[in-house]
Amino acid sequence: MGQANDSEAMWTAVDAYLAGHLIAKDEVLEAALAESEAAGLPPIQVTALQGKMLQMFARMVSARRILEVGTLGGYSTIWLARALPQNGRLVTLEAAAKHAAVARKNLERAGLLGSGNARVELREGPALETLPKLVAEGVGPFDMIFLDADKEHNAEYLQWAVRLSRVGTVIVTDNVVREGAVLDGSSDDAMVKGTRRFFEAVAAEPHVSATAIQTVSGKKYDGFALLMVE
Ligand code: SAH
Ligand code: DHB
Ligand code: MG
Repeated sequence: MGQANDSEAMWTAVDAYLAGHLIAKDEVLEAALAESEAAGLPPIQVTALQGKMLQMFARMVSARRILEVGTLGGYSTIWLARALPQNGRLVTLEAAAKHAAVARKNLERAGLLGSGNARVELREGPALETLPKLVAEGVGPFDMIFLDADKEHNAEYLQWAVRLSRVGTVIVTDNVVREGAVLDGSSDDAMVKGTRRFFEAVAAEPHVSATAIQTVSGKKYDGFALLMVE
């Protein structure tokens, strides 16, 4: 160990060990991954252990309404929506029509979309357009919000998330470490700049208590921020 590659191999092996013990085999989730891969979507969804962590956060706060920004193929959406009670609702926002189409298929297979048990509502369009509509329609407040779309706009997404919250709402923001790139204050990378603006916005937000956790897994070294509105 000591070499970066050795570390990544170990993180991947440990993730597989942990998932092997803690995550039940699930054909619907596995089909969602297979379908996403077959459609050529980027493999950037949360890991199974992270998906279950999100699900457990939602259960811990007895979430009845969840908002997700950034659906991709609906993998994290399925984890989160399954935390909901029968009458619970999840709204997920996705800009890319191709991603939304794959997600619809995966969510239908999961029995979460369509006639009958429509716990999930997928809204297509850039989140900076769909979030104001949610506010205008009086949708919410949400009990939990997962910010996982383009990182450039995370500071703006935070502002909308707070508007769609109540006291006690949990907000999770994914990908806030990016292999340590977040440290680079002179970066021109829009993702890094967006993440640094996000942390400045969190620090300036008086009604939010926050922490952040660095993560290793079968994916790149990254991290998530955990916020609670107060
Ligand atoms: N939450 C998913 C992964 C999301 S990846 C999971 O873990 O399973 C990020 C997604 O955000 C991509 O599908 C991308 O198309 C979408 N996205 C990018 N820019 C966006 C925007 N401006 N508004 C809404 N979605 C956006
Ligand atoms: C990437 C990873 C993510 O989890 C995400 O939501 C968006 C992008 C990435 O590795 O590029
Ligand atoms: Mg992510």
